[in-house]
Amino acid sequence: MTEPWSRTVLRTEDGALSVGGADVRDLAGQFGTPLYVMDEDDLRARAREFRDEFAAAFKPHGASVDVYYASKAFLSSRVSRWMAEDGLSIDVASGGELELALRGGMPAERIGLHGNNKSDDELRRALEVGVGRIVVDSFTEIEVLDAIARELGVTAPVMVRVTTGVHAGGHEYIATSHEDQKFGLSLATGAAFEALAACHDAAGLELLGIHTHIGSQILSLDAFRESAERMLGLRAAFAAETGVDLPEVDLGGGYAIAYTDGAEGLPVPEAARGIAQAVASALANAGGTWPRLSIEPGRAIAGPAGLTLYRVGVVKQVELEEGGRRQYVAVDGGMSDNMRTITYGAEYTAAIASRVSDALPALSRVVGKHCESGDIVVRDVDLPGDIERGDLLVVPATGAYGRVMASNYNSVFRPAVVSVRDGEATLHIRRDTLEDLLSWDVG
Ligand code: LLP
Repeated sequence: MTEPWSRTVLRTEDGALSVGGADVRDLAGQFGTPLYVMDEDDLRARAREFRDEFAAAFKPHGASVDVYYASKAFLSSRVSRWMAEDGLSIDVASGGELELALRGGMPAERIGLHGNNKSDDELRRALEVGVGRIVVDSFTEIEVLDAIARELGVTAPVMVRVTTGVHAGGHEYIATSHEDQKFGLSLATGAAFEALAACHDAAGLELLGIHTHIGSQILSLDAFRESAERMLGLRAAFAAETGVDLPEVDLGGGYAIAYTDGAEGLPVPEAARGIAQAVASALANAGGTWPRLSIEPGRAIAGPAGLTLYRVGVVKQVELEEGGRRQYVAVDGGMSDNMRTITYGAEYTAAIASRVSDALPALSRVVGKHCESGDIVVRDVDLPGDIERGDLLVVPATGAYGRVMASNYNSVFRPAVVSVRDGEATLHIRRDTLEDLLSWDVG
């Protein structure tokens, strides 16, 4: 199978799906459903593809690129360890993500801390463990971090988060570099420049460079090119004014993936070449030495590597007003394990996973078990007309922003996460239990 399926997914002879050499029926039997399954080989191959393709594209320029895995997409201590072993760094967006990354053995100097509203405790902890970079997002943070660093007797390595004005991304809620939103400091108004000067002057801060992230699920290389150009223009302007050629530039993440059959992602080799060319031509125009570059893909590493396995409960045939019928297939999870459909109108596909069927395909909607009609996992998909209670259903491309955005809505148990490789399954995150649920209630 091809995208949106992870690379090791195949149908075995008796019709069931297997992933990472493991039969989905066995996985469901061993760990229960719903279940998030991560294909280890696929996830790590995607991580290494970013590392290698970007290295190859920038090498002719004598430059290198550090790849920071955006751990908000999915994080377990084991994934942090994989990233460390595969030569990637990690970006974290909270104190919690920082602790998981450290627990997995990612060296602190290869961790970058993000956030538009970091707490004093988060900043202090980042400095105590010695993270490699803190991406500052406001003048308030510059002041607070400078004070904490001086109090601790250390220098905080910082980058300034720049809002370039490039608008990109699949949905308004995941576009991050247009002006009217909460992230970053504006290039257009001069706030970014001012923040750079403030960091440069602060005794407790060491200014490493500039950072931007233009959005998520971006298909257009033009948006990345435009963003690279504006960032290098800012760097050149800062050099012209202060004589400082900022050593580092981070261009963020946002690389699109395919969620449904026939949909497109942004091919990594193409992205690497396009961004290398854009940086080279921007440098040729604006001047300056080659900076140390970095990128932050999250979804494009974890997304296609993960799938969700559900058990079908109730199947209903509903007559449509405009004629025809829709088959509602209710599964044992829903918006609690996949918030993306209701939040962003995201599209997914699904397939019957425990057997093949010769029945004619029926227009279907995969829904969950929650108490609202928007509780949809897959809006439109053809599924066999004989799908029934007990069948396993699989939804691919759920590895990113799935478990990390899961909730306990209706007091359901958040599913476990396992990874599979060579027929072996490894538990990363266990399923919530009734004991968990009752123990959170202390009233
Ligand atoms: N770097 C920064 C600073 C970010 O804010 C993000 C994502 C990334 C990197 C990684 O972006 P990616 O390569 O994964 O697109 N919950 C939404 C996505 C929110 C993304 C937030 N920031 C979704 O499910 O689509």
